[in-house]
Amino acid sequence: MSRSAHPAGARHADVLPEGHYTAPAEDLNALDPKVWAHTVGRDADGVVTVGGIAVTQLAEEYGTPAYVLDEADFRDRARAWRTAFGADADVFYAGKAFLSRAVVRWLHEEGLNLDVCSGGELATALSAGMPAERIAFHGNNKSPEEIERAVRAGVGRIVLDSFQEIVRVAHVAQTLGKRQRVQIRITVGVEAHTHEFIATAHEDQKFGIPLAGGQAAEAVRRALQLDGLEVIGIHSHIGSQIFDMSGFEVAAHRVVGLLKDIRDEHGVELPEIDLGGGLGIAYTSDDDPREPHEIAKALTEIVTRECEAARLATPRISVEPGRAIVGPTAFTLYEVGTVKPLDGLRTYVSVDGGMSDNIRTALYDAEYSVALASRTSDAEPMLVRVVGKHCESGDIVVKDAFLPGDLAPGDLIAVPATGAYCRSMASNYNHVLRPPVVAVRDGEARVIVRRETEEDLLRLDVG
Ligand code: LLP
Repeated sequence: MSRSAHPAGARHADVLPEGHYTAPAEDLNALDPKVWAHTVGRDADGVVTVGGIAVTQLAEEYGTPAYVLDEADFRDRARAWRTAFGADADVFYAGKAFLSRAVVRWLHEEGLNLDVCSGGELATALSAGMPAERIAFHGNNKSPEEIERAVRAGVGRIVLDSFQEIVRVAHVAQTLGKRQRVQIRITVGVEAHTHEFIATAHEDQKFGIPLAGGQAAEAVRRALQLDGLEVIGIHSHIGSQIFDMSGFEVAAHRVVGLLKDIRDEHGVELPEIDLGGGLGIAYTSDDDPREPHEIAKALTEIVTRECEAARLATPRISVEPGRAIVGPTAFTLYEVGTVKPLDGLRTYVSVDGGMSDNIRTALYDAEYSVALASRTSDAEPMLVRVVGKHCESGDIVVKDAFLPGDLAPGDLIAVPATGAYCRSMASNYNHVLRPPVVAVRDGEARVIVRRETEEDLLRLDVG
């Protein structure tokens, strides 16, 4: 939350906690390119457009709420990551951020690999033609069926997350007469939070095998002995929505330290390291994310420097950005249903979706921006809270924002940067139907994930 003062035009500013609310942009009709997809703009009538199509037309054709995804932007960002890391590194898009068959095809075409973390994501990837060798399979509790499916399919790597899993994957591979390429996910004692990282001596979380106490070294020792496994590297993922590279610096230092210990003990130089995902995006104008080429340069330099110091050949680096690719490419389009000014407080704007299409505000206290999308307005700004239609007071989409004071039912508003972890974490709470994902490119729109129907709901309810 920024600490800026209230605008003169904000209603009831005197009763609000000092310095607690973000001042509106100079012009509420402006769309900050930092938080909006590349092709977003306004047409001559002031209507927001994406890929050359007006949101009013999208709403008419596909209804609201809807996630509107800028395909050209998705491809641009995917390509930017790919190009930034070059041929000597691999970029695995983290499918958990948002996965659909169209997305898999775009990734394939743009030369990215894919990280999946469940049988469902694996099935989606394979059904859309992602070559199995370009898939990494993650998860802290992969079922025996999932492991078998992944090994049979020939996934390029399975990221092992526990001692039990080392044995399980080795057993499945051996039974199938295969040697599975694996990485071992370790926790390096760096815990990354939203705008910072906190170095901790001990890990207290479910993922990975701690470096501390020699556990990671023991995991490698065991894995190297098993015929069913080919240990290709070490994996570390330090957290999410990270802006500061120093967390990666510490992580790389510790991962390379382990590679060195492995070399010294086993005479083996593991050829790969994966530094995970977690790079931050701009949800509001206050966020300043780094460009992929800066991130690639920084990570490559860190790893190279650490390896030189340890006299190791620099391993092949891989990364797993999810949010940083898909997050900024989509916005959620809602129709305003009610506008309720609460005297002395703020105005509640209810939209036709809510926490079922964006749980991040309720779950993580996430901040979002919002704009009036179906027209422009010169009315005075009013402080609003954008809320959903669910039976829960925590059903908040945008906690604090400013919208024009003449906002009315029927207006369309758009919440940017909802491409990551919104559709993928959407629910049917209150039996509200999950919105479609509409991809727009070069003046054409198409549904890539259709809107849920009541029949879909009832089909699962077998009485
Ligand atoms: N690699 C691994 C091993 C991960 O666990 C994750 C995210 C990623 C890559 C991708 O991280 P990204 O680049 O998208 O930040 N639901 C939360 C985020 C959970 C992330 C879980 N793991 C949210 O909405 O912020």
